[in-house]
Amino acid sequence: MTPTNEQVLAALSQVQDPDLRRDIVSLKFVKDLEISSGDVRVTIELTTPACPVKEQLQAQCEEVIRALEGVTSVEVTMTAQVRGKPAQREDLLPMVSHIVAIASGKGGVGKSTVSLNLAVALAQTGARVGLMDADVYGPSIPLMVGAEGEHPFTKDQKIVPIEKFGIKIMSIGFLLEEGQSVLWRGPMVAGTVRQLLADVLWGELDYLLVDLPPGTGDAPMSLAQLAPLAGVAIVTTPQSVAASIAGKCAGLFRRLNTPVLGVIENMAEYSCENCGHRARLFSGTSGAELAETLKSPYLGSVPLDPRVGNAAVDGVPSLISHPASPQGAAFRDIAGRLAAQISIASATFGN
Ligand SMILES: Nc1ncnc2c1ncn2[C@@H]1O[C@H](COP(=O)(O)OP(=O)(O)OP(=O)(O)O)[C@@H](O)[C@H]1O
Ligand SMILES: [Mg+2]
Repeated sequence: MTPTNEQVLAALSQVQDPDLRRDIVSLKFVKDLEISSGDVRVTIELTTPACPVKEQLQAQCEEVIRALEGVTSVEVTMTAQVRGKPAQREDLLPMVSHIVAIASGKGGVGKSTVSLNLAVALAQTGARVGLMDADVYGPSIPLMVGAEGEHPFTKDQKIVPIEKFGIKIMSIGFLLEEGQSVLWRGPMVAGTVRQLLADVLWGELDYLLVDLPPGTGDAPMSLAQLAPLAGVAIVTTPQSVAASIAGKCAGLFRRLNTPVLGVIENMAEYSCENCGHRARLFSGTSGAELAETLKSPYLGSVPLDPRVGNAAVDGVPSLISHPASPQGAAFRDIAGRLAAQISIASATFGN
């Protein structure tokens, strides 16, 4: 007996997305169901190609369909369509689904390193990704991607972002002459952030990550006011002051109605290249503790790896140069969790 569409859908409705806490049928993830005698083919469309539970969902779908009477073969194809907020499509960047700020309270905790490697990790899953370096005081992305001294082209009076490692990159550093320094005043910062959003040909993107300068100054304020942010990820190190300033930074974003998507801990652990032994280096507030204080998700920890310091100088992200390192794995895991939190924060289910 051939199973019916209704029977297959009923079976699939037993499969829950653990992050969105709804079944995949009511989430409208089920596409292109084809049944021909006992052969069942179905496509499941997730909200991000970086979904950390993709394989788990696929296995569950196969299992529940296979359990139906009359089924002889099952083919479950996983795809993704990143969905933006339709109500907000009148803004400066209507073709960008999710704008995500990467912030910290304290300087030097690794925001730029984390932003760059997360952008690369998301792009490696198949997402269309941009990285905007909004650190007006010390733009470091050009050096980190080996593009220092490059000047982007303009097209129709817009700036064409530089493409490297599968991501589109734009930095205030590309717009300044070499050695030029600027004494920034608040309105100039706001103007520059606006320019990086509106005057750059970002095109269609699933994610635009924005690397912010440290602290709660003009750049985060301007960004949160100019762009509909999906949220902010807070980077911290377990040094004594870092967590308390990071907490203030999270507070500022919340006051600007920007959800805190989670906390990323950096340089907390050293993982030995030779024996794999891991040791924690500081005794201050951990990323997990800060996440708990902020009542926001803990997205993971990036171990300290001396090769990363070199990566910045070599101009190649460590995820590209050392993909199999513990650090590479951490970046990929965190990218998946961040993408899941973005999907949760922007999920509009109509009920
Ligand atoms: N996990 C890590 N392991 C080793 N070195 C790291 C790691 N993360 C960052 N670094 C190094 O620490 C320094 C600071 O990192 P980064 O520039 O990313 O921080 P930041 O928060 O963006 O700094 P700023 O506040 O100045 O913008 C850099 O030299 C970088 O290479
Ligand atoms: Mg930086």
